Amino acid sequence: MATILSGAWVRDELLKECKPRVERLRQRARPPGLAVVLAGNDPASEIYVRNKVKACQELGIHSEKLTPPESVTTEELLRLVDALNRREEIDGILVQAPLPRQVDGSRVLLAVTPEKDVDGFHPLNLGRLMTGRPGPRACTPAGIMELLARYEIPIKGQRAVVLGRSDIVGKPMAMLLMHQHATVTICHSRTRNLEEEAARADILVAAMGRPALVTAGFIKPGATVIDVGMNRIASREEAARIFSSAPQKLAAFERNGSVLVGDVHPVDVVERAAAYTPVPGGVGPMTVAMLMVNTVEAAERRLGVCSG
Ligand code: GUN
Repeated sequence: MATILSGAWVRDELLKECKPRVERLRQRARPPGLAVVLAGNDPASEIYVRNKVKACQELGIHSEKLTPPESVTTEELLRLVDALNRREEIDGILVQAPLPRQVDGSRVLLAVTPEKDVDGFHPLNLGRLMTGRPGPRACTPAGIMELLARYEIPIKGQRAVVLGRSDIVGKPMAMLLMHQHATVTICHSRTRNLEEEAARADILVAAMGRPALVTAGFIKPGATVIDVGMNRIASREEAARIFSSAPQKLAAFERNGSVLVGDVHPVDVVERAAAYTPVPGGVGPMTVAMLMVNTVEAAERRLGVCSG
C-alpha cells in the first residue's frame, strides 16, 4: 500500500516550530508583519489569501490584506508596494498572482524589496537560490523539500523528473532537488515522449496544471509522486472521462457540481507509487506553512533576532 505524504501533518509541525520564534520576536521587538496584496476578485486567490491571513492569526503574526480593485494600474500597484517597502513593521510583502490583465506583473515583482520578498520570486532571490546562497525560497518547492525530508525520502543520487517549467514551481523545484544531489530532468509541454521521461523518475513532481495528466504509464513502480496540481473540473464529460475508475470522485462531482483533481490521476498513483501527495491535503497546506516560515525568517533577519 502506498504511503500518503500528508501535507497537513508537516504543516502542523512547521507551524509548531514557528510559534516560539514568533514569541521570541514579540518579546525582543515586535511580532512579524506580513502584507498581502490581493488585486481584483479571482475566487481561487481569495481562498488562498484567506488561508494565509488565518495562518498569521493563529501564529500571532501581524497581517494586513490590501485589496485594490480589478481596474488597478501598474503605477498604482507600484506605489502601493513602495509604501509597504518603507514600512518598518512590515517584514514580508506578498503580491498574490494572478494579477489583473492590464498590470505588468514582472515590474510589480521587481518592485518588492528583496528583504521583504517572502515568496522568493524576486530575481535577486532566484539568483541566490541558483548559486546556493541563503535567502527566501519559493514556498511551494520549499514546502515539497520539507515534505520529502520529514518523510525521509532519499534524494541524493536519485533520478528526479519535474513536469512543468514555471518560475514559481518548476524551475526552483529543479534547482532545490539538484542542490540535494538528485539527477534532475525538467519536462514541459514541448517535451517529446513525456510519458517515457516521467517513467524514469524515482521522484516525480507534477506541476503542469493539466488535470490527471499523470496516469499509470508515467509512474515508475515504487516512485515518490508529488502532485502540485489543483484543477477544478466543472464539466461532467471531463469528470466522467478522468474518473471512470473512481466512483467516489464521480459521486463528489454529482453532489457539488465540480470536483478537485491534481495533475496526477488519483487512482493510478495509489496503484503504482510507493509514496504520494493527495489532492487536497498534500502540497497545498505546505505552501501556506512555508510562507509563515519565510515571514518569520524575514523578521528575524530585519530585527537581528536569531532563531535560537
Ligand atoms: N498564486 C498561486 N500561488 C502563489 C504563490 O505561492 N504566491 C503568490 N504570490 N501568488 C500565488
